[in-house]
Amino acid sequence: MNVKLVNQSLASIDADLTLEFITPQQFINHPQKEILRMAGFKAEQEQFCTLHEQRLMVCGMSEMSDELFRSTMAKAITSIMSYGYKSLKLSLCGESHFKALVEGVVLGSHRCDEYKSEPKPTTLKEVIFSHDDSDNKDLHKLLNQTLIIAKATNYVRNLVNQTPYDMTPQGVAVTAESLAKSNNLKCTILDVNGLQEEKMEAMIAVGRASINPPRLIHLSYKPKNPKKVITLVGKGLTYDSGGLSLKAAASMVTMKMDKAGGCAVMGIIKAVSELGLDIEVHAFVGAVENMIGGNAYKPDDILRAKNGKTIEVRNTDAEGRLVLADVLGYAQEKVKSDYIFDYATLTGACMVALGPYTTGVMGHNEELKQSWISASEASGEYSGILPFNRHLKKLIKSEIADVCNVSSKPYGGAITAALFLDNFIDEDMKQKWIHFDIAGSAYTESAWDVHTYGGTGAGVRMTLEWLLKLCKEGQY
Ligand code: BES
Ligand code: ZN
Ligand code: ZN
Repeated sequence: MNVKLVNQSLASIDADLTLEFITPQQFINHPQKEILRMAGFKAEQEQFCTLHEQRLMVCGMSEMSDELFRSTMAKAITSIMSYGYKSLKLSLCGESHFKALVEGVVLGSHRCDEYKSEPKPTTLKEVIFSHDDSDNKDLHKLLNQTLIIAKATNYVRNLVNQTPYDMTPQGVAVTAESLAKSNNLKCTILDVNGLQEEKMEAMIAVGRASINPPRLIHLSYKPKNPKKVITLVGKGLTYDSGGLSLKAAASMVTMKMDKAGGCAVMGIIKAVSELGLDIEVHAFVGAVENMIGGNAYKPDDILRAKNGKTIEVRNTDAEGRLVLADVLGYAQEKVKSDYIFDYATLTGACMVALGPYTTGVMGHNEELKQSWISASEASGEYSGILPFNRHLKKLIKSEIADVCNVSSKPYGGAITAALFLDNFIDEDMKQKWIHFDIAGSAYTESAWDVHTYGGTGAGVRMTLEWLLKLCKEGQY
């Protein structure tokens, strides 16, 4: 879909269909109000009406907020794609809402249809935004920036939607190599021998029973004089069967999405490099498949992580934290950075705590966590802080090793998982680390907001919002 911004009045633009957003107050004076009223339209939120003879579609809006513009645009584009029109025109609705509308178009028109033998065709090729602020350079810059970020989000969605057969750990490595080639990034990949040399026993153990061996991927983007260095770490479980602590049949379905954190960091570095941001970014992905077999790692095993700490395994389904323990250790050893952020579909408990739409934000630095809440709010992603405390920390004590991979109590599982990861964050990075649990927000089986079915690309928009502010202001 081609998204254009033209310096012309809406009436003078040649397009098949016009789209309008109207509040109930604006509806009172609308030129088509009689015919729209007869069709039952009251300009309420979620109400749409198309007058094909007038080539006009109207969307009801309870208020003119970014959030409602974004999701209403996404729903409207879904309907329009099923009509036979080739082009759509609309007003940018003021500079502040323009970004939300563009996101609605690009994210709302994305479909998870790669595996359909006959994807639903659409004739819609062009969306034209009208503005009459002659040659406003900032608007074109905003459009370009928003398109890069929204397309990177769709890139992540496509990767997440790949089946476990198509996207194995080696598949993730090949994808990273091709991203590196097209975006001029450096890419290093470790196979099992490399992982052994690096003493990453925890990550190796998780992947041992799979016929698809693990890969550690390191992508880096290094501009000339970077203002800051950022490390991103992603959980890349291409499939999580639970291992010997096997998941129940119903819970195993959708576990191809357990690579969403790894896919997110790839999408983020893609967008950063296309925007040419003035920060050095390193993206590390622990790509592993958690399976069963005669050589599977077991409850009762004790693993030594890269930083030397020993882990008692009591549940092989708490595998993401084992992979992250080693990848966090590796990332901190290889790169001295100003911040380290990890993204992981880590716990079902995060969904219990925050609901299925919200990313859990955890860490030691209150100000830093707050800056992420603001960034996610500005980006249109939902996030919420899950607070640490010293009592929860005691729940992952082990009698036999340094730390246990599961909690002794069944509550607060998202936080105890993050407190487990804390064991693998170096002392000097404690205040610079944030963990994002995207278990709920990364994948959906029913449409909400700008998402249809499948991967949502959670983490991409909010991180770019945070990074763009860092570039603009130099620090947090
Ligand atoms: N990948 C899952 C977490 C998950 C669950 C993500 C549902 C998305 C949707 C993770 O590896 C896992 O299985 N966690 C366990 C931890 C438990 C064994 C302590 C969980 O959440 O049940
Ligand atoms: Zn698991
Ligand atoms: Zn998992």
